[in-house]
Amino acid sequence: MTEKELLPCHVAVIMDGNGRWAQKNKVSRLAGHNAGMLAMKEIIKRADVLGIKYLTVYAFSTENWKRSKEEVGGIFGLLVKYVASELEELDRNNVKVRILGDYTKIPKTAAASIEKALKTTQDNDGLQFSIALNYGSRQEIVRAVKKICQKAEAGEISEDEITEELVAGALYTGEENGNIPDPDLVIRTSGEERISNFLLWQCAYSELAFTDSLWPDFTPDEFEEMIWQYTKRNRRFGGR
Ligand code: FPP
Repeated sequence: MTEKELLPCHVAVIMDGNGRWAQKNKVSRLAGHNAGMLAMKEIIKRADVLGIKYLTVYAFSTENWKRSKEEVGGIFGLLVKYVASELEELDRNNVKVRILGDYTKIPKTAAASIEKALKTTQDNDGLQFSIALNYGSRQEIVRAVKKICQKAEAGEISEDEITEELVAGALYTGEENGNIPDPDLVIRTSGEERISNFLLWQCAYSELAFTDSLWPDFTPDEFEEMIWQYTKRNRRFGGR
């Protein structure tokens, strides 16, 4: 097998540490998120160059609403800025944008930017870039269970038909987003070693990798190094 064939098909990233980076550099938290957005742009480019098919980033969790109004508004403002400045290039690079989470509940201008990004890139078949936005994995599972219950109540499926595939298909990563494969590798920055309600079902067999780098300091070279380290791991999926 060549190194290229050993590459993870799907890499998911928990972009943590923007706040601590801001504190360390004596700038506002929003400036930290802005630096985080710049780091994200570079990681997307490197993922594309490496030939990774799916990249998913955790941008805003269902728990992040607990932050100050100013910070929440600032993060969505950055999203609008990101789409305005990057959409053309993403599209040119054949990147397809997807959203995992309920983006209808985010501020209107941000939701409109998302709609535009989804529409513009809908026919692209290069890097599949998913942004987890207003996303929480438990909420995602509850939503999937409700969808399945509705089908059962309507007599469309029987108990025997409730399988792992059916549950997976009802998640945000399922049918509505073209059945994104489970992440092979989950990276978390900033020294925290937790999953924090991110892709709980999908991460069942994922390899986990952690780095002390704060997200804005996380470079494409470090990302690439983590990918090569992953290729040396021996995944057994519960078998021998
Ligand atoms: C975690 O750092 C980061 C976030 C909650 C926001 C992530 C946002 C971006 C990378 C930029 C915006 C990009 C888009 C697409 C919206 P933290 O604030 O929890 O850091 P801390 O733990 O050091 O406080």
